[in-house]
This record gives sequence, structure tokens and C-alpha cells, in this order.
Amino acid sequence: MTRSLLMEVSRAVADGIAAADPALTGADPLVRPSDRADFQSGAALALARRAGLPPGELAARVAAEVSTSTLADVRVSGPGFLELTVAPDAVWRRVAGRASRADLGVSPSEAGRRTVIDYSAPNIAKEMHVGHLRSTIIGDCLARVLGRLGAEVVRQNHLGDWGTQFGMLIQYLDEHPEAAWRHGELAGDVSSVSALNGLYRAARARFDADSAFADRSRARVVALQSGDPATVAVWQEIVAESEASFRQLYDRLDVLLTPSDSAGESFYNDRLGEVVDELTKAGVAVVSDGAVVVFSADEQRPDGAPVPLILRKRDGGYGYDTTDLATLRHRVSELHADRILYVVDARQALHFRLVAETARRAGWLPDGVEVAHVSFGTVLGPDGRPFRTRAGDTVTLGSLLDAAVGRARAVLTEKNPSLDLAEASRIAELTGIGAVKYAELSTSRTKDYTFDIDRMVSFAGNTGGYLQYAHARIAAILRRAEGEPDAVVDVTAGLHPAERALGLALDGFGDTLADVAATLEPHRLCTYLYDTARAFTDFYEACPVLTAAEPERGNRLTLCRLTAATLREGLGLLGIAAPERM
Ligand code: ARG
Repeated sequence: MTRSLLMEVSRAVADGIAAADPALTGADPLVRPSDRADFQSGAALALARRAGLPPGELAARVAAEVSTSTLADVRVSGPGFLELTVAPDAVWRRVAGRASRADLGVSPSEAGRRTVIDYSAPNIAKEMHVGHLRSTIIGDCLARVLGRLGAEVVRQNHLGDWGTQFGMLIQYLDEHPEAAWRHGELAGDVSSVSALNGLYRAARARFDADSAFADRSRARVVALQSGDPATVAVWQEIVAESEASFRQLYDRLDVLLTPSDSAGESFYNDRLGEVVDELTKAGVAVVSDGAVVVFSADEQRPDGAPVPLILRKRDGGYGYDTTDLATLRHRVSELHADRILYVVDARQALHFRLVAETARRAGWLPDGVEVAHVSFGTVLGPDGRPFRTRAGDTVTLGSLLDAAVGRARAVLTEKNPSLDLAEASRIAELTGIGAVKYAELSTSRTKDYTFDIDRMVSFAGNTGGYLQYAHARIAAILRRAEGEPDAVVDVTAGLHPAERALGLALDGFGDTLADVAATLEPHRLCTYLYDTARAFTDFYEACPVLTAAEPERGNRLTLCRLTAATLREGLGLLGIAAPERM
């Protein structure tokens, strides 16, 4: 592993601070990348009062104590900032070191941390909607980044495969055996979930209109829960059909989720009674109005009343809350999680706070285990209103992806008319899907996000296409040097400002991944890759590569190689392909 320049310089400044005033040992050196030098530190400003010195004075003392061959220049600027400039050979050493390693010198900062990631989680017999798409894409990116940093990632697809609605569906199918999806002709087709969705709506309408049917449906729920074989068989058929259509989408999106990652709500069914009993025994749950509930100690209604978590309804039924408690307990005690992430939209924030609070009170959640709701905003349409995929209509997720791929093909053939048709189609699938993913990942996840296909597939600005294109362009440069002996880096060579900027950017890859792991914000990786691609463009405009003489040529080819590798890996961690040609 290669320590980054940011880490190296931070350590040098921290040592300088401790040498200038031993009482400040351990203080944060506050080193950040800067436009004025390579890095700057505002530590003297933050620590001046503690040191009893004017900031400028403290900064000067620290500057005098900072000693490392990594830095060529340390100076005080403004009211007490330190401006830090890295020595040229230190930049080249990092570039050479990272380029020579398959792992690009990224340190495995999450090694040994067992992290459960709950993502995607669509509902059986319903259409997967754009919210599930967002969860799928964000969750998959986090699974990749954490895994890359050495975490033991356990993916969990908490399918909505249980609940009273299945009574209604099964009963309806029983009374309407002609329902299309059962005849097999739709098997594995994305539209089968549309058919199921149609079935869902028909059953719902009947349920609302016909009280005798509603009664028969309730009896079916009981039959399902008590394991009646005929009822369970139909339920399994429905689940399998839905899962097959979800899987088609997963395959097309190239997400990591496999069937063995599915642990739907039904998986926890036989543990719910125990959950309620234990919570009652522990005094965490109480009986209120015939129901078993937990009153939150932390959350209050606007009128000051505590918010309840419903564990068992008056009719004896269990719901989503109870299931999530059983799920959390399972993840701690059986999956041995150190960290549990729920990639679910922001509207469920209260639910997850209540679940975590209850588990903590019950003693099911040890202090060392982190639980985080990785929440995200609503997906909006171009009209600024919540985006809807209308069931049975043409706007399914599959058709949205088709539209993105179609638009990507048009953009691609316009940019490169010499691509042959088959090649254009193959690449359009990669760039179209990549465009959708990148658009989801590059906006801060907590913000609402506008689903705008035309903007997504553009090759201009901070888009997936721009990055894929930047990568393909570097791949083309490298192809022209193919067959040559490996380029060598001469660390004593000069360092052009554009080489410096690119070298520093490339050195920050591992720090960026660690930052994504800490904040769980994939857009930081997007911003990093975009900045790096732009630093490459500036470099390539300023510095000839293949026509340069040695040692510049070898140094610059190595920069090209490391940039291509970093972009390829970075895109891969976003779950986006990096074609060699476009
Ligand atoms: N199926 C749920 C929904 O569509 C999401 C489940 C999220 N995961 C969880 N453990 N509750 O809203």
C-alpha cells in the first residue's frame, strides 16, 4: 500500500505542530488540497487560542518545525494559513508506485469489517419502481466500494414477499384460474411482473368492492401463515415469477445481487412471535389498546405524545415493524455484522430510527455495531413531480432503460459515425445503462433527483458518458504505444504544473474511496473521477506524450496508464463499464 501525499503531509504537519507546542500534540492538522499550493492547513488558526499565540506567529513556528523531504516549500499566508508544496520527485514516486501495483496502492481501510447492506428490496407482485432502482444502484455502489476496501460485505435483498395482500392475490387466482401469467408464456419476461401488477390491482378492486371476497381473502392469509400446502404453493409461484423479472433487471443493470442474497420478509416469519415475547418480557414492549407496542423514548409526535412502534396488531397480525426487528437481530447475532446499512428512501427515516432504538433498548444492538439509514430523496420527473412508472403502461423500468440505451446510441453514432452497427449497439447498452447509474450516483443522495434521460446520456459535463469517453480516449493513446517495453518513471525529471495537478489527483484515489466508505456518499467518487478526467484533459493539452523525448515520454505514458487504470476502476466501483473504444 502507498501512503497518499495528503496523509504524508498531514502527518508532517501534525509532527510540526507537536514540535512547536507539545501541548498541541494530537491536534488535527487540517490539511486539505488547495488551489494556491498543493495543500493548505488552517490548523494554526484553529489552535491559536489554545497555544496563546496570534495565528500568524503559531503558523510561523509550525512552518519552521515541519521537516520532510516530501515537501519542497512550506510558507505562511494570510492570517495564518500554511501553504504546502510537494517536491517534484515525491509526486513522481507516488505515480510510479501506484502505477506498478494492481491495487493502485489503495489501503484496505475497511479490512475485517463485516458490513450488511440492505438494498433494492422491491415488493413481490408489484412493479419495481424508480425508488427501488435508486436503492439498487446506490446500494450496489456501496457494496463495491466497501468490498474494494476490504470489508466483508453481506448483501441482503429484503424482498417484500409477505403480508396480508398475498391472501387477496391467492384467493383471486383461485377464483380466476385464467390469469395469464400462470400459463408459463410470460415466464421470465419483465412483463410478467406487469401482469402480476395487473392481477394485484384486479384483486384489490374486488377486495374493496366485495366483502365476501374480502373475508375469503382473510381466511387465505391465515391459511398461508399456517402453512397450508396448496396456498403456499401458489404463493411460491407468485414469488418465483416476480423474482425472475427482478433478476432480468438486475442482470441488465449488472448489479452484484444474486438469488442467495434474497432474504425477504417471509424469511423472518417464524421468529416474529419470539421477538414480541422477548420485548414484552424485557419490559420494552407494552400492551396498549389490545395491541403490543413500543413507545419511543426519543421520538415525539407534534403534540408531545410518544410515537409507537406496532409489534402485534389487535387482530394478532404482525407487520413491517416487527419483521425489521427480527431482521436486525438476525443481522447482529447470526450474520455477525459490525455495520448495518439500510439503503432505503428518506420517507422511512422514522421507521428505522424506531427499530434501532427498540433493538438498542432490548440489548440486541451492542455499542460497537453501527446502524445507518442510507437514505435518499424522491425521484422526480422532468416536470418536477414525483416520478411514476405506471403499471401496465409503457413506462416500466425496463422501458426507461430501453429509452436511455436508445438515446445513448444516437449520441454515440453522432459522435463516432465509423462505429459499425453491432459495435454501436453493444457500446450503447454500456453507455446508456452507465448514464442512468451515473446520474443517480453523482447527485448527493439526500437530495431529490430528477430523472431526465436527455441530460443523463449527454457526453458533456459531469456525466457517465464523459468519463467513459475520457477513458476510451486514453486507451487509444496507450494502444499506440502497445508492444513497447514498459515505460519507466524518472523521478528526477521536471514536473509540469499540469503533470503535478494530474499526479496529485491520481494520488487521491484511495483517500476518496475511504471518504465514500465513511460518509456513504457515492457522489464523492463521481466528483473525484470527473475532476481527474478534467485534470487529464488539461495535461494532455499541455504536455505531448508519444512525441516527447525521454525521460518525459516515459513519465507521461505512466501518467496515462495510471489515469486509465484509475478511471476504469473508479467506474467499475460505480458499477459502470469502461469500454476500450467508443
Ligand atoms: N420493500 C420495502 C419498500 O419497498 C423496502 C424494504 C427496505 N428494507 C428493510 N429492511 N425494511 O418500501
